Amino acid sequence: MNLVTIDKAGEHEGQEVTVRGWLYNLRESGKLLFPIFRDGTGLMQGVVSQKEAPEAFAALRGLTQESSVEITGKIRREPRAPGGYEIGVTDVHVVQRVPESEPYPIQLKEHGVDFLLDRRHLWVRTPRQASILRIRAEAIRAAREYMDNQGYTLTDAPIFTPAACEGTTTLFEVQYVDDEKAYLTQSGQLYVEALAAALGRVYCFGPTFRAEKSKTRRHLTEFWMLEPEAAYTHLEDMMALGEELVSHIVQSVLRNRSRELETLKRETSKLAPVKPPFPRITYEQALEILQKHGHNVKWGDDFGGDEETTLSQQYDRPVMIHRYPASIKAFYMEPDKDRPDLALGFDVLASEGYGEIIGGGERISSYELLVKRLRDQKLPEEAFQWYLDLRRYGSVPHAGFGMGLERVVAWICGTEHVREVIPFPRMIYRVYP
Ligand code: 4AD
Ligand code: MG
Repeated sequence: MNLVTIDKAGEHEGQEVTVRGWLYNLRESGKLLFPIFRDGTGLMQGVVSQKEAPEAFAALRGLTQESSVEITGKIRREPRAPGGYEIGVTDVHVVQRVPESEPYPIQLKEHGVDFLLDRRHLWVRTPRQASILRIRAEAIRAAREYMDNQGYTLTDAPIFTPAACEGTTTLFEVQYVDDEKAYLTQSGQLYVEALAAALGRVYCFGPTFRAEKSKTRRHLTEFWMLEPEAAYTHLEDMMALGEELVSHIVQSVLRNRSRELETLKRETSKLAPVKPPFPRITYEQALEILQKHGHNVKWGDDFGGDEETTLSQQYDRPVMIHRYPASIKAFYMEPDKDRPDLALGFDVLASEGYGEIIGGGERISSYELLVKRLRDQKLPEEAFQWYLDLRRYGSVPHAGFGMGLERVVAWICGTEHVREVIPFPRMIYRVYP
């Protein structure tokens, strides 16, 4: 048996091959059937003639959508078919027939998003969703490739944590053992800071959790974050790493997943310019731009989705904003020596209004200042003793950032919402399926 996958079928033109997959669609026209098969790597049209292959014709006629089938036939060139080739089916083995009484619930028509989210376990089979998941995989591969080549060691941060990293309002509390409480991690940052002092340059990459109460198109309660951290490193070094990382991911997807981007009808000309250098503006310059465009924002305000969209529309690639007011940033941010009211932090906003994809900066390295910040923000000092140890024993300037994978992939894919770019999205009102 000459077993092939649909994406490689073109290499077997003129040969008899077998494809294992599912029936995606079936058109019947008298003594001819035009099935479309999918196998996870692509779609392929078949032709079955009652005269030439009566048994195959009988097996396929009336076969229900998503029935699993193994088909055998000759590969021919057909420019009008999806993928450019079709199969002249001569043999069919039905692995499982979907019963007529309970047809596959997702038809080849528009469905509401709640209907689809309730059936996410089936929705992932559609070519659009499968393309998104392949792009996600390529983004992860490229991100790790880039970090590894820069001499960063992959280290893992824990999921159960004793304290908050990104504010106490979005913590998920879990009953740990006996009466002990723990929290699901909001960010691996504090742990990669410890690991950076041990290994120099590290990153973690894993799921993080935030009890985001608001329903927005950019927030999940469970999302993946890649977090580099490096010792003897400053804000500018991390900004350079961030723009290189994002560019490498985007260019890798353009190069290696062009077919999937085509399935999504993504306008790739909008992604092509994503190369260093990204424009860099300060928070105060950003304020000026926003005020000029009629936004009612003043010094000390954080930017919301509308502000981020206006800022990103000024450029053809992501923009980096640095030196925010310390008052709106996390407790661990190093203040600017010349302007202690500003934090040495930065955000990267994706182009086309996709919002913040990276947040990070330089960390406080002084023990005294860090203790003061913990007290000011009424954080439980006991739980942070290990973190303070990093400032007690050989403290050095260090910096890092967190890149939200789903935000990056949603932008690359051009999807409306981040919920489509993770296999099983978790949102404030959804933990099923
Ligand atoms: O800006 P954030 O909150 O930064 C941190 O967590 C730092 N401790 C990271 C670090 O310096 N190591 O989150 C980082 C990124 C955001 O820019 C965004 O892309 C993504 O994580 N993100 C979310 N993505 C999806 N859903 C959510 N609810 C998200 N919250 C943050
Ligand atoms: Mg942020």
